[in-house]
Amino acid sequence: MSDSMKNSKKIYGPNPSFVENANVKKIDENLSIERFWEKEAERLHWFRKWDSVLEGEIPFTRWFTNGKINASYNCIDRHLNSWKKNKAALIFEGEPGDRAVYTYQDLYREVTKFSNVLKKMGINKGDVVTIYLPMIPQAVISMLACSRIGAVHSVVFGGFSSQALSDRINDSEAKLVITSDGYWRRGGIVQAKDRVDKALYETTTVDHVIVIQRSKNHIHMVKDRDYWYHELMDWAEIGCEAEAMDAEDDLFMLYTSGTTGKPKGVVHSTGGYLTGVSSTHHNVFDHKDEDVYWCAADIGWITGHSYIVYGPLSNGSTLLIYEGAPDYPAKDRTWDIVEKYSVSILYTAPTAIRMFMKWGEKWLENKNLSSLRLLGSVGEPINPEAWEWYYKNVGKGNCPIVDTWWQTETGSIMISSLPGINKMKPGSVCKPLPGICADVVDDKGESVPYGRNGYLVVKRPWPSMLRNVYKNTQRYVETYWSMFDGMFCTGDGAFKDEDGYIWVSGRVDDVIVCAGHNIGSAEVESSIVTHKSVAEAAAIGCNNAIKGLGICIFATLKEGEFPSRDLENELSEIIIAEIGKFAKPDKYFFAKELPKTRSGKIMRRLLRDVAEGRELGDTTTLLDVSVIDDFMTMDD
Ligand code: WT7
Repeated sequence: MSDSMKNSKKIYGPNPSFVENANVKKIDENLSIERFWEKEAERLHWFRKWDSVLEGEIPFTRWFTNGKINASYNCIDRHLNSWKKNKAALIFEGEPGDRAVYTYQDLYREVTKFSNVLKKMGINKGDVVTIYLPMIPQAVISMLACSRIGAVHSVVFGGFSSQALSDRINDSEAKLVITSDGYWRRGGIVQAKDRVDKALYETTTVDHVIVIQRSKNHIHMVKDRDYWYHELMDWAEIGCEAEAMDAEDDLFMLYTSGTTGKPKGVVHSTGGYLTGVSSTHHNVFDHKDEDVYWCAADIGWITGHSYIVYGPLSNGSTLLIYEGAPDYPAKDRTWDIVEKYSVSILYTAPTAIRMFMKWGEKWLENKNLSSLRLLGSVGEPINPEAWEWYYKNVGKGNCPIVDTWWQTETGSIMISSLPGINKMKPGSVCKPLPGICADVVDDKGESVPYGRNGYLVVKRPWPSMLRNVYKNTQRYVETYWSMFDGMFCTGDGAFKDEDGYIWVSGRVDDVIVCAGHNIGSAEVESSIVTHKSVAEAAAIGCNNAIKGLGICIFATLKEGEFPSRDLENELSEIIIAEIGKFAKPDKYFFAKELPKTRSGKIMRRLLRDVAEGRELGDTTTLLDVSVIDDFMTMDD
């Protein structure tokens, strides 16, 4: 454990005024896991109640057997018999500054009309529909229109290339694609429909494409294949019965970001998934009816599925979605939006927080952020430095931060503080939520004592866990269930501290074994970014004749800072002081940006290639390939 993590002795909260009104004030330790989840499932509307809560053996467990439920019904219809009928469900701001508001009644109209359109297009229960859309209201409407009729949606992130899109269409055998003509990004138009046209040369299963008009750029419409959304919606009827789905029917599939290997189509169920996301959205974000809730993720990731669409809407939230880039027209766009809509809950990723840090505090000055009452973080370990910055500059010291650990595969948040109960330690994800049995174990599957690194596992099934890898049960079993008997293997490394708080050190593949020591890349990175000049850093293991493996650092500097030998020495001193001499880096690379996947994760595999002077491997999931050419070292 590095000193910057250990030294984050500062412990915050819980804030007394928050505790008083929190959705969860205490945990009932006497509830069995099954009874806990049963109570959470009772928060939803079921057409038919389940016969038993949990059946089957790991890895093939079933939740709420014979229960009948519909996700779209729970996100919309359930709210129509109350005052929420006229509540804003969705507030949209486009990058050019256009805006739209949909009440729950509006959502009902648009979703049921679109469900009828899908049916007319020959989509039936169980068919797969690919959604390739930007962050516009029709993305949410499309997902809910699919789940209403039992079609399985496969959302593909709008930033993916036509190659990535055709791979995903082929793997899922989708019958229909929903896309847009284009969308706005940094003032320009991204030609989404062109990419679909190109992708469809490589596929055979798609009969129709529905095109939403967003940016009015010229596109080519293929006769009898492509249809305009607004023309189809013109004649569509309002009102479409929600299909009574079995709790275990598939709700959607989603391909994982895939920093390694071929992407996996993670399959989620209907009843268990909805129970997990609805419960955690209520408990972890402490969601209240009056909140304006902004999860700044993209609909193309699991965060968008669970905490933009299904969790919040099933709880009757008012959610905000923003189409564009956070630095357009200027680097204060995020704070403008918070002020303009009086956002009260903000959920974002460490990579975004570090970017805000790099841009500097001046972009937040003169903004009224007093509406904020809770902040969230997800996606990777948050270094204490960034945590403190977020707490102080965004939350003004008044907002609890929930650092939420989970995965595409887990469906919903598994480890997080509960804002009305737990103290927060910057950099730690706190403890497993009620109903979740997560632990840190050694390679024999035994719990490790505190302070020791091990594998993060889940020892009992939970409702929102993935049910399969699409059409590849063997891969499902091998990837997640074969390392330890009866335990779900997350692939993350972690340790517990003396209070039982969990500290995630990153993917196990990212652990660097150097001179016989196990060094978590997150530890090294979090010490380096304590230096005032450094904005972001990645620590990579690379071959070293003596130690076996040495450490290479890739760093980006804050505005106005420049690389030098002195800076390298200062950074090495910090690492030696915080971790030990054995962790002194072999080499530094400085860059304008680090190469990231489209979901914001640093592509360590590529950095390893750079560090060892190899040809670059597969760069198809990289956001911007040109960043690689910008690396510089003091040794050249
Ligand atoms: C991996 C899952 C979960 C939605 C977004 C990413 C890392 C996620 C945290 C956190 C430390 C985290 C893990 C995990 N991760 N949240 N709060 N602290 N690490 O979904 O693409 O499936 O990635 O993201 O390594 O395994 P994903």
